[in-house]
Amino acid sequence: MNNHPAIASGNVAVITGAASGIGLAAAKKFVSLDMKICMADLDEMGLEKAGAEVAALCSGGATDILAVSLDVSDFPSVENLKGKVMQTFGQVNVLMNNAGTSLRAGTWSDFQHWQTMLNVNLWGAINGVQAFTADMIAQGLPACIINTGSKQGITCPPGNTAYNISKAGIKALTEGLQHDLRNTEDCQVSAHLLVPGFTYTGMVKAHLPEKPPTAWLPEQVVEYMLEKLADNEFYIICPDNDVSEEVDAKRILWGAGDLANKRPALSRWHPDYQQAFADFMEE
Ligand SMILES: NC(=O)c1ccc[n+]([C@@H]2O[C@H](COP(=O)([O-])OP(=O)(O)OC[C@H]3O[C@@H](n4cnc5c(N)ncnc54)[C@H](O)[C@@H]3O)[C@@H](O)[C@H]2O)c1
Repeated sequence: MNNHPAIASGNVAVITGAASGIGLAAAKKFVSLDMKICMADLDEMGLEKAGAEVAALCSGGATDILAVSLDVSDFPSVENLKGKVMQTFGQVNVLMNNAGTSLRAGTWSDFQHWQTMLNVNLWGAINGVQAFTADMIAQGLPACIINTGSKQGITCPPGNTAYNISKAGIKALTEGLQHDLRNTEDCQVSAHLLVPGFTYTGMVKAHLPEKPPTAWLPEQVVEYMLEKLADNEFYIICPDNDVSEEVDAKRILWGAGDLANKRPALSRWHPDYQQAFADFMEE
């Protein structure tokens, strides 16, 4: 398989949330392609263990791996991360703003959880874009910025409005970023929105000790991401073992139809629209 030109032997990937799940699977995949990796995470112990696992797979040995513990919601720490990567490897070809957290939050309660989710999920990605993008353009090398969103930021299901907002914000951030990058002269950087389906990672394991059959493994998300990056697709919306690409596309269309057709908000979950939604999905 051909890869996106940023994903190539000797190139450098920076991954936040790299101690676990999708970030760790990406780090393992990138080292298998002889890339140098900066793994960043809040979880110091997890990062140490994950860094050792990735170093064991790395043909260049531990010197090709940089592990940085940080909180992505803190902008000076993210700027410091950029400085360390540039000092160590001299370039950045892939930036994955992937760190994320999901906490219980009612729509008008759990204020602290709202703040944490918006600070980590949304501000974490904004901080990454702010700290890295100008340097990634200036270095004049093929590069990409991949922000991890969620289907919850597109169809906004009821249950965790704060998480939905954080991921809807990432969608808007990444769309605007890609527009501006493609209108920047001599820019070799592209942006992509990675939208995993249901994936068996740390944040899911916390609630479900065994992998449900409907979930994908993080390695499947990373393989799918590389395939879509190779085709230079912007929206990388992963299916899982329950939801196909076609079902996702119809759910997205139904959600947009709420606005265009002046239906009630989130009509997919409104009792008066159950039959109409089911009929639409059957069409
Ligand atoms: N697992 C799913 O089903 C699913 C679905 C859609 C989107 N996502 C998104 O995928 C991304 C990766 O999550 P995952 O599923 O691999 O879960 P995970 O819990 O395995 O990994 C998330 C990592 O982010 C780190 N992290 C949390 N807060 C941080 C902070 N403030 N600073 C730095 N690192 C921090 C955690 O320590 C952890 O290692 C997240 O953005 C998540 O919202 C996951």
